[in-house]
Amino acid sequence: MPPERISPPDHPIAFIVCGATGDLTQRKIYPSLYKLARQSLLPKEFFLYGIARRPLSDEAFAQNIERDVRAAVGEELDSVVLGFLTARARYISADLNDAHGYETLDREIRGHESAIGQRIERLHYLALPPLIFAAVVGHLKPDDHSRIIIEKPFGFDVKTAEALEKLVRVSFQESQIYRIDHYLGKEAIQNILTFRRKNPIFESVWSAQGVAAVHIDAFETVGMEGRGAYYDEAGALRDMVQNHLLQLVAFLAMETPEDASSSAEQAARARLLGAIRPFQGSVSLVRGAYEGFASEPGVKPDSSTETYASMVLEIGTDRWKGVPIFIRTGKRAHKKHTCATVTFRAPEGVMPNRLTFEIDPRPSITLSMNVVQPGFTRDTTSAAMHFCRNEHFSAPAVGDYERLLLAAMKGDQSLFVSKQEIRASWLAIDPFLREASTTPPERYAQTSSGPQSAATLASTFGYPWPDHSHVCRFD
Ligand code: BG6
Repeated sequence: MPPERISPPDHPIAFIVCGATGDLTQRKIYPSLYKLARQSLLPKEFFLYGIARRPLSDEAFAQNIERDVRAAVGEELDSVVLGFLTARARYISADLNDAHGYETLDREIRGHESAIGQRIERLHYLALPPLIFAAVVGHLKPDDHSRIIIEKPFGFDVKTAEALEKLVRVSFQESQIYRIDHYLGKEAIQNILTFRRKNPIFESVWSAQGVAAVHIDAFETVGMEGRGAYYDEAGALRDMVQNHLLQLVAFLAMETPEDASSSAEQAARARLLGAIRPFQGSVSLVRGAYEGFASEPGVKPDSSTETYASMVLEIGTDRWKGVPIFIRTGKRAHKKHTCATVTFRAPEGVMPNRLTFEIDPRPSITLSMNVVQPGFTRDTTSAAMHFCRNEHFSAPAVGDYERLLLAAMKGDQSLFVSKQEIRASWLAIDPFLREASTTPPERYAQTSSGPQSAATLASTFGYPWPDHSHVCRFD
């Protein structure tokens, strides 16, 4: 099949960044817009607006965008592309709690609409602290040409997520709401679904009958990086597990959607998320905090927030019941490594086959096999079949935010999280959040793989963490 040709959105767009000077916006949004522009994937009529309290001229806003793009892109910038992005970039210095800035915005967009003789789709991008979120949403006066992109965290638990949902729904319909989980924009995560759907040889073993266990690792070397105050409220369970890692479980285990629509894809994920529960009904959780966490800026000295979490889940459907799903994630760990390993059932005495999807840092898929040991014996040893994405393809991967922003501009919600998914994933981790509040986290050394009891958690259930020595390495 010839590769799908991607076209830019076919209508004018005003991309409105509420919180224009935020860290995520600088690291991800402006660079992704630049990359889309470089591939001619922004519409001809594209207007970039930044709204924030800090006073800034349009020129200074344009210079900041250039600075952020330069820092993230790491190559010679194309001045024509950059000019396209910045020439019409407009900064509105306003208190986000006040109607004034939104009125200016509305006036300007209407002005552009009369100049070009077309309606302009308004895409509001919100990466805001929960405290001012309500005020901003209250001031937006959307019509049917408006959408809203919302960054996580979407709530703090089931209740607060529902309250937030109610608030957003006063102004926006579900079809206008784009809740971001950037893992859904990762090529390597999308590839899990493609691998499952397009390699039918695995289908007959893709259930509790063929799969013995699943292990998910998400180690990070980074610590707080200036996000201490946010993180101290959230912790690893809310920051990584409730969203990214449960979505990873959904991609590994969900049923095929009923049709090709975005809503069917969201519904298939929501059904899977809704079936997640603690393994065999009891909450097994290890929490850790790295040494020095409590002295990070913004973190309370008596903090009992976890920077590491390890747990065992189960999917309570006929297809998956009884298969333990082990998750571990931690900050300031020994390496950056995100992967999911599926261990297949094997008769006594045979090394189980393992299929590993590495997401980061080197996207790959590896199947471990048993082969004869070279020499005169008939001994068996382990070998691997590898697909290493960057060895196989020279095309650079499309960045997660590039993929998501383009999808939002084109009205494709399949890569965004529905309200049912949000609710289901909060409910899924609720028993773990409740357990977390009962005991303080264990300390673990920085650059380690976490607290000792996490290492033994998986072994207790008979499935120690895989060592990943079978996974491809090209360095
Ligand atoms: C973010 C979390 O959503 O995901 C961060 O808030 C975390 O704390 C990041 O570092 C991890 O993303 P990735 O793409 O590096 O795995």
